[in-house]
Amino acid sequence: MTTNAEWQVRKEKAIARGQGNLAPIYIERAVNAELWDVEGNRYIDFGAGIAVTNTGHTNPKVTKAVIDQVEKFSHTCVMVTPYDTAVRLAEELNELAPGNSPKKTTFVTTGAEAVENCVKIARAYTGRRGLIAFNGGYHGRTNMTMALTGKIAPYKSKFGPFPAEIYHSAYPNEYHGVSVEEALKTLDMMFKVDIAPEDVAAIIIEPIQGEGGFYITPVEFMQALRKICDEHGIVLIVDEIQTGFGRTGKFFCSEYSGIEPDLMTTAKGMAGGYPLAAVVGKAEIMDAPLPGGLGGTYAGSPVGCAAALAVIETMKEDGLVERANRIGDLFIDNLTKLQKKHPDRIGQVRNKGAMIAMELVQNGNANEPDAELCKALVDIANKRGLILLSCGLYGNVIRFLPALTIPNEIVEEGLAILAECFEELVG
Ligand SMILES: Cc1ncc(COP(=O)(O)O)c(C=O)c1O
Repeated sequence: MTTNAEWQVRKEKAIARGQGNLAPIYIERAVNAELWDVEGNRYIDFGAGIAVTNTGHTNPKVTKAVIDQVEKFSHTCVMVTPYDTAVRLAEELNELAPGNSPKKTTFVTTGAEAVENCVKIARAYTGRRGLIAFNGGYHGRTNMTMALTGKIAPYKSKFGPFPAEIYHSAYPNEYHGVSVEEALKTLDMMFKVDIAPEDVAAIIIEPIQGEGGFYITPVEFMQALRKICDEHGIVLIVDEIQTGFGRTGKFFCSEYSGIEPDLMTTAKGMAGGYPLAAVVGKAEIMDAPLPGGLGGTYAGSPVGCAAALAVIETMKEDGLVERANRIGDLFIDNLTKLQKKHPDRIGQVRNKGAMIAMELVQNGNANEPDAELCKALVDIANKRGLILLSCGLYGNVIRFLPALTIPNEIVEEGLAILAECFEELVG
């Protein structure tokens, strides 16, 4: 038998340190919301590979769809000789995307690529240069998406120069003292100081900031952005890469605000663990780039498309979008009890469906983030058989992203481990 420690030594020699790993846990197999490492240890997975395996690890329907597809063919390239699964998936996504306007889809391979392509499409459509993103937002690790990301360490440190014409505006975050009104004022001032609205191609926003700390963008802010974009002919891009695919209790989180994005990104949970991403948007905007202007060798891989069709079918048949709300309730009930016992250390618990967060502070004060406690909690939980992830502009938020297929008993078991680890750390 090999050990986790041996693999970690080999990993550190073989893989660049920039591609770090949360824990020295080397996975041998995974089923639904449980993982087993090379030493035979079992883990409860509250991270789902960062919001990817929403339909559970090795979901039988998704796995079968993939095997059926690879037995037929694994690649021909959608831009050379396409196949029905890509067309059927595009039709499904056009149908699922919020709003009534006719939609079109383009496929890519990663979330960052989807964001990059939104920028290309918005610029081709508007003929404008400017892009506005938000403080604390996260959009990926490629050059353009790094520049759009509103957090320096570790995403942007040492990686400049970045593309020009990108501006960051205040993000409305009541808990950290920024109201919707103030955030809108900052944007208005930006139009006076930095860039005229008629030079702005697109505004990009996450309906819930993911890496930034699971802060829920207020509905009024999403609606105000829709209005501003309509007024000035700006393309509104909603980045649903982390919030998408049923996780928040709607298929896409923008549905809560009743707005229709002009362009929307989706990736992660869409294909249940197979690399696939897409931009879905208003047909008129999506068709702005010339033929050949969008795509990529693996864009819309048949394996990813087959997996995504099985994911959508499973989510509909098994009621997983609604299940996200029940999972959220169960987490919030338990986390609120823990918060009541430790109001000085747990500043806030919040969720939309199964996108759940617990923010750790000192003295019950939002302005005293406790990144140290957050890191210690992740480390100790991982050692006790619970995979926890953290996030946040201040590094002090535990984020919970379980599979939407996780049984209640496993949620309870994981939360009991969490409480035990937390109590041990805070005394
Ligand atoms: C909101 C959001 N946008 C973009 C990305 C980038 O996606 P990928 O890592 O697939 O490139 C992520 C990934 O975490 C994300 O959460």
